[in-house]
Amino acid sequence: MSVRNLIDLNQLSLEELDDIVDMACRISRHPTHYSSACRDKLMATLFYEPSTRTQMSFQSAMLRLGGKIIGFDNPNATSVAKGESLKDTATVLSGYTDILTIRHPVEGAAMAASLYSSVPVINAGDGGHLHPTQTLTDIVTLRNVVGRTDRLVIGMCGDLANGRTVHSLCKSMSRYGGNSFVFISSEKLAMPDYIKEYVTSCGCEYSEVRTIEEAMPYLDVLYMTRIQRERFPSDEEYLKEKGIYVLDGKKMALGKPDLCVLHPLPRVDEISYEVDDDPRAHYFQQTLYGMYGRMALIIRLTSDHGHQTPEKPAPTPGFVCRNPKCITRLEHYLPPLTTDTPKGKVCAYCDHAADDFAPAESK
Ligand code: NCD
Repeated sequence: MSVRNLIDLNQLSLEELDDIVDMACRISRHPTHYSSACRDKLMATLFYEPSTRTQMSFQSAMLRLGGKIIGFDNPNATSVAKGESLKDTATVLSGYTDILTIRHPVEGAAMAASLYSSVPVINAGDGGHLHPTQTLTDIVTLRNVVGRTDRLVIGMCGDLANGRTVHSLCKSMSRYGGNSFVFISSEKLAMPDYIKEYVTSCGCEYSEVRTIEEAMPYLDVLYMTRIQRERFPSDEEYLKEKGIYVLDGKKMALGKPDLCVLHPLPRVDEISYEVDDDPRAHYFQQTLYGMYGRMALIIRLTSDHGHQTPEKPAPTPGFVCRNPKCITRLEHYLPPLTTDTPKGKVCAYCDHAADDFAPAESK
């Protein structure tokens, strides 16, 4: 693989991504053939934020590959509670293990950890930013259920502002030819501009609507998401958005016969339980494909790399990210890093546009 870490799925070439998806499909057919693929390898799961599926599917993936796991899901029971930095935790735990999986509430945290880890780092969700292995899950599911990942009309509904799953999914699905998107959300929870610009820069089209009903007849895929309560400034703000979108039997009746309904889960109230029995609901099956996708990813990442000191990217002197949710706001030792995109410089941790940034010397 051309990359050591998986922070953003778009770091992989389409060939590499398809290779992992193909492998996941093979594993799903013959899981026992891979039962010693990671024998003698140890994975640490560093979960600074609640998780059921992602954490357990990573753990079961590693165990099913014959590997072993250590980790935490309650940072308050670790030295983090004593004020240990992400740098120190990543440096130490990477010395013990062969691969790190990290979930963190702050945007860019996995990328930050990867700067200090001597082993590959997988981003298992960084705040409202990205969730590449959920997207891998979604792509493996589409490949198996729909039979293709291109020429699809993909509806995304719910909290498109704060949902990292839809951000990652949009970025990856824009790379496949002929996909288009219908963003279904309230005005407050609309898809961020940087994702919409990314979609357009890939030559894909998108539209924005306010109701599920108006989009439903046109969709090949409907990706439902929950309103991300924990990312709202107050409960009052959350309650204003809660319950606006609920997929029920009546709305399902407006969909195509071969519509594929996905949801990263957990569900709160955005899909009625009656929909579970509709053959077009694939969200439980999706969780299983997630484990196979993670098995394939772990095999690929652990087979290419031993323990090594990562190469440090060149810093951008004077750059300060203005995103208040960026990891650089919290962990002050982090070097200022930017990435050049067709739209200009962005923060390399959180992708926030570095609009008003000029190098220190030219200011
Ligand atoms: C998602 C997440 O954590 O972003 N869950 C998951 O990983 N399957 C979606 C969510 O929490 O809403």
